[in-house]
Amino acid sequence: MSQTALAKFWHPIATSDEVTEQPARFALLDDNVVAFRDENGVAAFRDICIHRGAALSLGWVRDGTLVCPYHGWQYDRTGACVKMPSRPADAPIPATARAQAYRAQEKYGLVWVAVDEPADEIPLFPGDVYDLPEWKSFISYRRVWNTSAARAVENFMDFSHFPYVHNGLLGTEETAEIAPYTVEKLENGLHYWLEQEEPSDLYGAGGSQKVRYEYTLVVPFTIHLKKIEIGTGRETFITQFTQPRTSKTTELFVFIVRNHSHDQDDIEFGEFTNTIMEQDRPVVESQRPEELPDSLREELHIKVPDAASLLYRQRLASLAKVEVFGPYGA
Ligand code: FES
Ligand SMILES: [Fe+2]
Repeated sequence: MSQTALAKFWHPIATSDEVTEQPARFALLDDNVVAFRDENGVAAFRDICIHRGAALSLGWVRDGTLVCPYHGWQYDRTGACVKMPSRPADAPIPATARAQAYRAQEKYGLVWVAVDEPADEIPLFPGDVYDLPEWKSFISYRRVWNTSAARAVENFMDFSHFPYVHNGLLGTEETAEIAPYTVEKLENGLHYWLEQEEPSDLYGAGGSQKVRYEYTLVVPFTIHLKKIEIGTGRETFITQFTQPRTSKTTELFVFIVRNHSHDQDDIEFGEFTNTIMEQDRPVVESQRPEELPDSLREELHIKVPDAASLLYRQRLASLAKVEVFGPYGA
């Protein structure tokens, strides 16, 4: 979908500790962002100097300004050039001498950037659980995938691949049939759920524990999966925040947020999720085209199980104001 439509949303670009006083380059929406930190927090610009196009990320921070590495122009955190060292100190600086400043803020230990005026807030966790003391959070999985953000999100939304890609962990071939399910349309996304006996020991007690999977999608690229172990009170969010680096490369940040087992090592939960993600990766990286096809006619949608992903594609298309065809092949 068009990068213009995506520019109106907050996207993660890094973890907070990766944005320091030393400017650094981060990829976003087929372009580069320079981000740095001063006493006022994080700041982000398009990574290009208006003077001669040098990468500002090769510069440094001095006196609260970002210094271009080429001729030393200094930009304040609003992007205004406040010093051109080659000119007399009292010479006026043209108002057009600006870096393109983006909105930047920190949440969930990540740095988020919006290129244009954002159409929505940074996505919340359902129930705002992230900050509640009963819930423990960590980033479990992080990796760049050779695919588009939409393909990576659609994979996370999809459960009918469980018996094949995650056989014995999330599904089995004997239980491949999917019951009809309802997708609720939210103002900024979708919500749907199913229940199944999960064959894993970690959440499903080896198949004897029923698990309810509640999915909440926030457009364009956030997907929460809440795993509810029915009757036990144990609930776990597996949440993917997604950085659209380029139209064909995407960085995933997968959080695990749980209301149980605080004294158990995070690694036990992390390893399970990371195994799942690494099972998914080669399959998703094999999908062609890497981006979702522009037309819904180009792949075949089967109502059960593909209702959620079809609605996701329609929602993305309406964001991009692309004509939508459809709906189902069967
Ligand atoms: S290119 Fe940045 S100051 Fe010249
Ligand atoms: Fe998967």
